[in-house]
Amino acid sequence: MKIEIKNITKIYPRGKKKALNGVNIEIGQGIFGLIGRNGAGKTTLMRIVATIMDATEGEIYFDGKELKANKDEFRSSLGYLPQSTKLMPRMNIVEFLDYVCILKGIKDKKERKERITNAIETVGLVGEEKKRLGKYSGGMLRRAGIAQALIGDPKVLIIDEPTTGLDPEERLYFLNLLSKIAMERTIIFSTHITADIEHLCNNICVLEQGEVKYLGEKSNFIDRVSGKMFEHTGTKEEEEMLRREAVVTSVAYIDGSPCVRYVAEKPFTEKSISVTPTLEDAYIYALGGVKR
Ligand SMILES: Nc1ncnc2c1ncn2[C@@H]1O[C@H](COP(=O)(O)OP(=O)(O)O)[C@@H](O)[C@H]1O
Ligand SMILES: [Mg+2]
Repeated sequence: MKIEIKNITKIYPRGKKKALNGVNIEIGQGIFGLIGRNGAGKTTLMRIVATIMDATEGEIYFDGKELKANKDEFRSSLGYLPQSTKLMPRMNIVEFLDYVCILKGIKDKKERKERITNAIETVGLVGEEKKRLGKYSGGMLRRAGIAQALIGDPKVLIIDEPTTGLDPEERLYFLNLLSKIAMERTIIFSTHITADIEHLCNNICVLEQGEVKYLGEKSNFIDRVSGKMFEHTGTKEEEEMLRREAVVTSVAYIDGSPCVRYVAEKPFTEKSISVTPTLEDAYIYALGGVKR
């Protein structure tokens, strides 16, 4: 499914500034990565696309159809996993998914059973059916959330910061699960961690303070800093100079000596070596450099 976000602006009733300011994004099939710091507007945008909330201005189209005028049709092909989900803690996964099926209007008992079995298999929760959701780990809850979002076999999945709070193993499992279910679907996935989208998405959007800082292919995004990335290990004074003169994308202290990665047209010091840019470098550069 194709989703066109056109000139979306959002002002919250008690908001001090625009949460979104004239956002334009086109999203096609596959996994689309929405990346931005806390407060960038990711959740706001996802809630608007998921028809949970109205925009102040602008329109959204899916396959050429206006979203608000065709809400029911869009919702029937949508799965949404909010940033914080409180799944029924006293239910087990089967009871919970049965409840979701009923909410979705799936009346036939046999069909419900089939869909539930499939969903549990897809997200790898076979063997965990008897446990109450209140006893699930963070990663298992996220998987249960995906099972819930998948139950109606949606064409569009909106997933808001699903990796936050997961341990490394659970996170990897979850990212693999996403690429597994991406086939023939449009997945919009938000995160504040570049490593999440490093291997998952080809198309990305960098959102900052409600505005699109970059939209396009991930490889082109990284290319913006290629040939301009340097690394210098030296003194604190040299670190300060580089922070003033260049755009610093990271500083790592190795045995007390700052190792500074920076973007510049030419190397600033003799000790600087040319390095291959990472997605993180490109991202921090797009946001104007590291903060103190
Ligand atoms: N209900 C609300 N009322 C007022 N301001 C809000 C509300 N929700 C979010 N905001 C503000 O809108 C901006 C974007 O928030 P959000 O969409 O949650 O960002 P993100 O998900 O990227 O962290 C922030 O400045 C936030 O403080
Ligand atoms: Mg958010």
